Amino acid sequence: MGEFEGRVAILFGAARGIGAAAARGFHREGASVVVCDVLDAEGSALAAELGERARYVRCDVADAAAIEAAYRAADAAFGGVDIVLNNVGITRYGTVDVLSLEDWDYSLRVNLTAHFVSAHHAIPRLRARGGGVIVNTSSILGHASQKTTASYAAAKAGIQGLTRTIAIDHATEGIRCVSISPGTIDTPLVRHVASGFGETETVLGAWAAAHPVNRLGTAEEVAETILFLASPRAGFITGSDILIDGGIRSELYA
Ligand SMILES: NC(=O)c1ccc[n+]([C@@H]2O[C@H](COP(=O)([O-])OP(=O)(O)OC[C@H]3O[C@@H](n4cnc5c(N)ncnc54)[C@H](O)[C@@H]3O)[C@@H](O)[C@H]2O)c1
Repeated sequence: MGEFEGRVAILFGAARGIGAAAARGFHREGASVVVCDVLDAEGSALAAELGERARYVRCDVADAAAIEAAYRAADAAFGGVDIVLNNVGITRYGTVDVLSLEDWDYSLRVNLTAHFVSAHHAIPRLRARGGGVIVNTSSILGHASQKTTASYAAAKAGIQGLTRTIAIDHATEGIRCVSISPGTIDTPLVRHVASGFGETETVLGAWAAAHPVNRLGTAEEVAETILFLASPRAGFITGSDILIDGGIRSELYA
């Protein structure tokens, strides 16, 4: 019997990458999963691969009404929600003198406000189930920054503040809220970003070498941490941010 038997997990940004690995993990451990994304082909294929206990729901998290509709879809399919993964993240590069207000607003909306909107709809549902867990995906860039990432870094740092506050506001209701901060993880997003800096494998090699462990992380390694945090084994962990970064935050100079 899986650790999440009888539980329902809703995952935003789960058609591919870290979110898809987490959806597979929760499903493997017995949960019903609602995969929310804008990549309809990938999301539908993942739900079909998982079969029973899996649904794909199209949900653009820039649209608050779509987030609420995704929760309603989870209610209709599986009768409620126990676990939430707010995992959508997008990049908008540019120094602040170049970055447009539109790009800043959109980045904050997708990378941070969507986490608030999701939590807003999650809390009453988790409360109705006697408790639950919200996992928010922050980033190593919520701890230290890289050039031209102002809107992303601000949003990812904001996620950690949001997480801490949700955690203390709802701790006595059996609701935990945690964030995770991955280092560089080999996902479609990272491959796409790398291709913009040069030959993809060369760039990925340089990024791997920047991590003390001398490699990139895998989506499965991040997913295993998410599963642990969502499980009763992590029952005393709330408000925390967990680094999954191959040691990169620990080193000042390579
Ligand atoms: N890969 C890394 O190195 C890394 C490092 C630190 C943090 N993160 C964070 O991890 C999370 C997952 O990243 P990933 O690398 O798996 O990326 P990814 O692009 O492979 O996956 C992100 C998913 O979010 C979906 N998405 C994008 N915009 C959306 C929108 N408006 N509405 C709904 N879904 C949308 C994408 O379609 C995709 O399926 C992100 O929050 C990212 O910022 C990733």
